[in-house]
Amino acid sequence: MAEFNGGGHWHLDAVFYQVYVRGFKDSSRDGNGDLRGLIEKLDYIESLGVSCLWLMPIFPSPLRDDGYDVSDFLEIDPSIGSLADFQQLTEAAHQRDLRVITDLVISHTSDQHHWFQKARQGPDSPFFSYYVWSDSDDRYQEAQVIFSDTEHSNWAWDHQAKRYYWHRFFSHQPDLNYDHLPVQEAILDVMRFWLDLGIDGFRVDAVPYLFEREGTNCENLPETHAFCRRMRRLIDGEYPGRILLAEANQWPDDLVAYFGAGDEFHMAFNFPLMPRLFLALRREDNRPLIDCIETLPAIPADCQWATFLRNHDELTLEMVTDADRDYLTSEYARDPRMMLNVGIRRRLAPLLDHDRRRIELLYSLLLSLPGAPVIYYGDEIGMGDNIYLGDRNGVRTPMQWSDDRNAGFSSADPSRLYKPVLTDPLDNYQTVNVAAQLRSPASLLHWLRHQLRLRSSQPVFSRGEIRFVQVSCRSIVAFTRSHRGTTALLVHNLAATVQPVHLELEAYAGLRPVHFSGNHGFPQIQAAPYFLNLAPYESLWFLLEPA
Ligand code: GLC
Repeated sequence: MAEFNGGGHWHLDAVFYQVYVRGFKDSSRDGNGDLRGLIEKLDYIESLGVSCLWLMPIFPSPLRDDGYDVSDFLEIDPSIGSLADFQQLTEAAHQRDLRVITDLVISHTSDQHHWFQKARQGPDSPFFSYYVWSDSDDRYQEAQVIFSDTEHSNWAWDHQAKRYYWHRFFSHQPDLNYDHLPVQEAILDVMRFWLDLGIDGFRVDAVPYLFEREGTNCENLPETHAFCRRMRRLIDGEYPGRILLAEANQWPDDLVAYFGAGDEFHMAFNFPLMPRLFLALRREDNRPLIDCIETLPAIPADCQWATFLRNHDELTLEMVTDADRDYLTSEYARDPRMMLNVGIRRRLAPLLDHDRRRIELLYSLLLSLPGAPVIYYGDEIGMGDNIYLGDRNGVRTPMQWSDDRNAGFSSADPSRLYKPVLTDPLDNYQTVNVAAQLRSPASLLHWLRHQLRLRSSQPVFSRGEIRFVQVSCRSIVAFTRSHRGTTALLVHNLAATVQPVHLELEAYAGLRPVHFSGNHGFPQIQAAPYFLNLAPYESLWFLLEPA
């Protein structure tokens, strides 16, 4: 196992598949997906052409925030399986050359965690200082309330401790006190525990909020970065080859800071880029995309962005201007039920009106722009959502494997399922499912697998420098990716209409675009603008080769 983890820099070329274990495959017929079910589906995951699984929280939890409310960091939730199952999963994944990372929720615990239960007993408890207490609820006023639809304050009263405790998310998720060094040590030990079990890294949840300081918004504090460096030193010193991926929903400068000088995170989610992909598409305008990528500060060598279209949360609109937020909301969340906090709680396919061309276009951008793509389970078949389920549950419904009972997800009684399968006319599992898409060569699933294979055949996609190509109309986004003498040219039409376009490709005069399908019929590039005609939402992937 150590050898497997040791392969350096694998994260640069990774493609992630985000799995909600509870919703993926139920092997025990209790209506909950589990680790054994996931093991059964590893062949499927391998066949997608991804290289790393990201498992959402698998620890014991009262499940008031779907496992992001951890009540024990050193166990597996019994409804999902056991530590032995977990080890079997990592071994089976590694045999297939798939890596496995899990969520690591470090900023808070559940109020059911034994640390908090003991802390509530008061200042004499050895765990009291594990949390942030106050006699008043008016400290740290500048810190934003993140779950603004549910919470009105970051302080909650604890009857037993007779004090307020600090929480950045739900009030049942008290924040850990990182000023108390035993907390830091305890979290580092949690990391060691899972790393010893063979895990390849962590998606570290809610990183910016570890410390609180009066007069600040309590995000991205220097002390937080110092602890990130401690986590990284642990990885480099004791577990080289494993990775840390940051969830830090921040503006570019604050976000890039989490790479440090190459001594903090190996990866971070590209939160600024994600909403701009949706913005560029809807506005049929390349500017939001180009501006975003060109103004993102450079990241240290050996670091990589994690890029994504959707995930298990709402499509967050925090990292856009007020005007763009209003526009995205009006265009993508026409029903107020689709909104949650500052975001849109919908899956990819319904966001794009189930338009196969637009889904392919966004995937094509995701796979060809810089970064390691992360694909959210179910989005590879264009699964729908259920906006009538509360919180973010509508985008976490059971994976649709087939048109069998419960979408092939579970053979339990339908009423036992952790959440109902989708039955509505557009998204029902009888129509949208893996088995059907495997049978149809023209399915989204086959298309995406093919595209992922193309991408992994060419290191330019994961390692190449990006350069935007000047174009004669703003609805076209064209760029090159170059690495070690190979150059790919990627051209995308963001518009719903056919677009003729001139590309300024003089720097490549003498080369010939060869389409990834093998088509050599495109004319050689001359010292004059290169003309192409793109169908609505079309993407063209070329390699530039000597004529
Ligand atoms: C992260 C998770 C989200 C969770 C929150 C609180 O933002 O992505 O699902 O609710 O942290 O733990």
